[in-house]
Amino acid sequence: MNYKDNIDFAKQMDQDDPLKSFRDKFYIPKQKNGDTCIYLCGNSLGLQAKQTKEALEQELEDWKNYGVEGHFHAKNPWMPYHEFLTQAMANVVGAKPIEVVVMNTLTVNLHLMMVSFYKPSGNRTKILIEADAFPSDKYAAESQIRFHGLEPSECLIELKARPGEVCLREEDIQTTIEQQGRDIALVMLGNTNYYTGQYLNMKNITAWGHAQGCKVGFDCAHGAGNHPLNLHEAGCDFAVWCTYKYLNSGPGSLGGVFVHERHATAELPRFEGWWGHNKETRFKMRDGFEPIPGVEAWQLSNPPILSMAAIWASLRIFEEAGMQRLREKALLLTGYLEYLVQEIGDEFIKIITPSDPEARGCQLSIQVKNANKTLYDKISKKGVIADWREPDVIRVAPVPMYNSFTDVFMFASILKEQIEALPNG
Ligand SMILES: Cc1ncc(COP(=O)(O)O)c(C=O)c1O
Repeated sequence: MNYKDNIDFAKQMDQDDPLKSFRDKFYIPKQKNGDTCIYLCGNSLGLQAKQTKEALEQELEDWKNYGVEGHFHAKNPWMPYHEFLTQAMANVVGAKPIEVVVMNTLTVNLHLMMVSFYKPSGNRTKILIEADAFPSDKYAAESQIRFHGLEPSECLIELKARPGEVCLREEDIQTTIEQQGRDIALVMLGNTNYYTGQYLNMKNITAWGHAQGCKVGFDCAHGAGNHPLNLHEAGCDFAVWCTYKYLNSGPGSLGGVFVHERHATAELPRFEGWWGHNKETRFKMRDGFEPIPGVEAWQLSNPPILSMAAIWASLRIFEEAGMQRLREKALLLTGYLEYLVQEIGDEFIKIITPSDPEARGCQLSIQVKNANKTLYDKISKKGVIADWREPDVIRVAPVPMYNSFTDVFMFASILKEQIEALPNG
């Protein structure tokens, strides 16, 4: 793409964007002066779809009118409610319906998956994780190791970038798995790193892990709705993700889980609850857990309908837009952001996200060279909503669903202006 550093070019790109009408389906936050913010933070919290309110109101109305009978008589009966989301969620992450369920929240689901897929025995006791994994994932892995009476200092292998580098090299992941695979019970990596934005090839990593007899799972918090994940084809044993980032379901909303269909009827250790029990006999209130075939067996509780309603509202928009078209736009939009940031020069800032579009989603992480948060504070004052991650990164995510090329141009102009206004700028 022959990008140009001017507003007319950005506007023309917006004009030509086949997904341009989707922006209008979302509320974009406003600044105090009434101007629209440049919202580039969908990697942290996605925006509210306009149709979310109506979806929630429907459930409130049905609760008001039916009380408990809403489980059967609501417009969208609550008893099978989670099933309404399954196909659309499966489409977003590239899976079969039997492999996908919406339930709980991410860290809870990660624990549930480790109960089933981290089974240390003999010498095979270790979990392979990234050194800069999201802290919650590390806490979860360490506590699972301790739960088995083992020591995290001995059982957690941390993948580190090479000295002077921030992203992992896939060949280093491969070498670690090949060299230490016989001691590894579980490979558990972030599929898109929250800090660097690096996207890992799940299919390769799964193949390397399986070749060594390891189980393989991914935290797709920053991948779901951002990258077509093709989880089924990747072949990993499990994946977990949240829905409040790219999937726009609202703060603290429920997570998604994938368990590959090869485990659909396998006997695995599992923490069980009544919602995972055979639907035909669930209400007979009998002893003896009969798992639903597939990932639904991992459900514990009857689901929170209000949170699910918001996810469903958002998934309908994903159905309309399609992950493939979103990805096509993301390649152009993030490419434009990269081009404009590079035009600013590298004296004060540097993009640490891989330059290979296949190794990233829509987020770019911009490292501020003196680790000074002032630059971030200044662009925030100018109406940019992005985020600062310690120690030195501004994360910026132009989300193809609702961000425009004009957003990206405006952001880069503000960034440039504020860098020029720095004492040595
Ligand atoms: C990569 C990653 N993993 C785990 C979490 C924790 O998610 P939750 O609070 O929903 O458990 C987050 C939250 O932002 C995250 O980004």
